[in-house]
Amino acid sequence: MSKFITLEGVDGAGKSTHIPTIANLLRAQGREVLVTREPGGTPLGEKLRGLLLHEAMHPDTESLLMFAARREHLEQVIKPALARGVYVLSDRFTDATFAYQCGGRGVSADKIRQLETWVQGDFQPDLTLLFDVPVSVSTQRLAGARDPDRFERENGDFFERIRQAYLARAADFPKRFRIIDSAKTLEQITQDLESIVLSI
Ligand code: TYD
Repeated sequence: MSKFITLEGVDGAGKSTHIPTIANLLRAQGREVLVTREPGGTPLGEKLRGLLLHEAMHPDTESLLMFAARREHLEQVIKPALARGVYVLSDRFTDATFAYQCGGRGVSADKIRQLETWVQGDFQPDLTLLFDVPVSVSTQRLAGARDPDRFERENGDFFERIRQAYLARAADFPKRFRIIDSAKTLEQITQDLESIVLSI
């Protein structure tokens, strides 16, 4: 049976480093795996990503465009792959909108929930891996990044609100979330991921 697995965390938590590891662990179990990302994942979604990462806009507009891209992604990529029995690994999904637009930008959770229901009904990830790290560590990692986007240029308070919003989501949905301590070494994190993938 296919599974929809999402990867979440503040910018600089290191999630992108670990996605290939998770994909390879699943492939080693004989699964077919599709790796995709949000915002993006479709030709239109990638155009919306360009706007979202680089153009100034109202937080409501940001939320609407995130869900517009998600609608395309769900219908064109995620659901068809799941229907073929493929494991779908998405670098971010709706928890990111609750964390960034709601926690970070202050859009009401009620608005985001309405968009969530509109766009995905009761469709939810089977598993969400939250890469969690103190903001002092993630911002230090980001400091080395070239050409930061509109989100990465935000201050520590913004990321602290996002981290807390993610942790609150994990507490609200304990069956779906697994928290990865991203302050550990790469080897330790890889071991944690191995045991999670074995338990899927
Ligand atoms: P990401 O792919 O993690 O950035 P990078 O390619 O730099 O590693 O995500 C892009 C940005 O989009 C990230 O700062 C978080 C933001 N984002 C939201 O604000 N809301 C959302 O719903 C999603 C999916 C992403």
